[in-house]
Amino acid sequence: MSERAPAGGVAIVGSGYVGTVVAASFALIGHRVVGVESDPAKLRQLQAGRAPFHEPGLDELIERTAATRRLSFTDDLAAATEDCTVLFLSVGTPPSPSGQPDMGALKEVVEVLADHLRPGQVVVTKSTVPIGTGRWIASLVADRIATGGRAPVAFGVVSNPEFLREGHAVQDFLHPDRVVLGSDDISARRIVAELYEPILAQRIPGDASRRDRVPLLETRLATAEMIKYASNGFLAAKISFANEIARLCEYVGADVTEVTAGMGLDRRVGPSFLQAGIGWGGSCLGKDLQALLTTASEYGYRPRMIEASILVNIDQRQVVVDRLLTSLRTLRGARISVLGLAFKPHTDDTRDAPGIEICRRLIERDVIVTAYDPMVKSLDELPELRIASDPYAAAQGADALVLATDWSEFADLDLDQLRTQMSGDLLFDGRNMLDPDAVRTAGFRYLGIGRPEVGQPAGWIRLLPEPAPSD
Ligand code: UDX
Repeated sequence: MSERAPAGGVAIVGSGYVGTVVAASFALIGHRVVGVESDPAKLRQLQAGRAPFHEPGLDELIERTAATRRLSFTDDLAAATEDCTVLFLSVGTPPSPSGQPDMGALKEVVEVLADHLRPGQVVVTKSTVPIGTGRWIASLVADRIATGGRAPVAFGVVSNPEFLREGHAVQDFLHPDRVVLGSDDISARRIVAELYEPILAQRIPGDASRRDRVPLLETRLATAEMIKYASNGFLAAKISFANEIARLCEYVGADVTEVTAGMGLDRRVGPSFLQAGIGWGGSCLGKDLQALLTTASEYGYRPRMIEASILVNIDQRQVVVDRLLTSLRTLRGARISVLGLAFKPHTDDTRDAPGIEICRRLIERDVIVTAYDPMVKSLDELPELRIASDPYAAAQGADALVLATDWSEFADLDLDQLRTQMSGDLLFDGRNMLDPDAVRTAGFRYLGIGRPEVGQPAGWIRLLPEPAPSD
């Protein structure tokens, strides 16, 4: 790309979790941003200053930046394309039966923008896309321009993977561990790096805290695309490893929460993503691992660690059902209460949620399942599931209670009240978040993941508070 980029703002195509967070955050750090959304209902909500999904802090950010007139939303992709310097693609790429993300929506967008691209503009992929998508976009656009009889347009393509976690998305975007920009075109990378400068320098309006400069990693296109997949693959592998160790802990009578605490104190291992439980869910980890498998199979290669991570995760959901079966003897006609339907706390997202999968498997065995979740109040995909308005109502008459999402409010449950509501005494802590002794004192039988079933003296690992930093 040799021409200078036209002066203009940023367009973000697709206003899902990623797109909306990126749009509002770029507006906060001073850019003029237009978010493009084709769904009329979502667009109306965004134009009224609200995100079409729950994400802490996002509504406030949209309202605040829209009031400065730096942030607006439209369904006019052509106008947004013509009026920007950098165009981010963050349209949905849901899993397809082939195992690779479905690129249909992305293709439609690329075809429209090809008709309106001008020299010097930069197209950035923000959605998680199969490796090679950057090149595919460049070829698609070039072909479309040629068949339309227009003169060739020099434009850049950059991969800028997003690592934000749902529930912490705004903070993750504004204070990332790293920014990755992949392109075989150095000047296109530079243009996008400039957009990120306030984030790289940690000069965030309204945030006076002092933080170190954020590392910027500039790579080739395919490398950046791979960094995203490899990161999610590794996070998933960490969780599955902890879950495998949990299974072994059950055999030998060890407590996995103390084992992983002991492992995590080794700086080479690190403490995060070692929490054993009923496994990972959500829209990203499973989809990305599946895409890695499919990519590998195109080359005739079997990535065994990735395969194993998926298999352990599938088993982990069944562990709950199997142990309920062993403990209750028969499941048909039993009443089981499930606390937590979201795939993790601080979100209403139920995509590939382990708790829901457990509800489904129990319902298939004719169990009467009543669930409660602080944010999920209905679930079309499982009409037989009863949803209660609070945890105690969900526990009414239950033979067993399963804790499936580690919402912090579940740590403060009144265990005595819960026990009184139930007809049985089994509490299955699928996230190892409760104190087994406190649960037993309230008259429950406690089952955790990878924790001894009978009470025993507390282990010797006690994590001391961090020493105060010396000046
Ligand atoms: C993930 C990645 O973390 C993020 O970088 C990427 O951009 C998108 O995918 P997210 O899907 O929001 O983010 O969820 P995350 O916080 O990673 O949790 C994924 C799942 O793993 C949840 O179901 C969570 O409950 C589970 N988990 C997480 C564990 O079971 N144990 C852990 O130690 C950590």
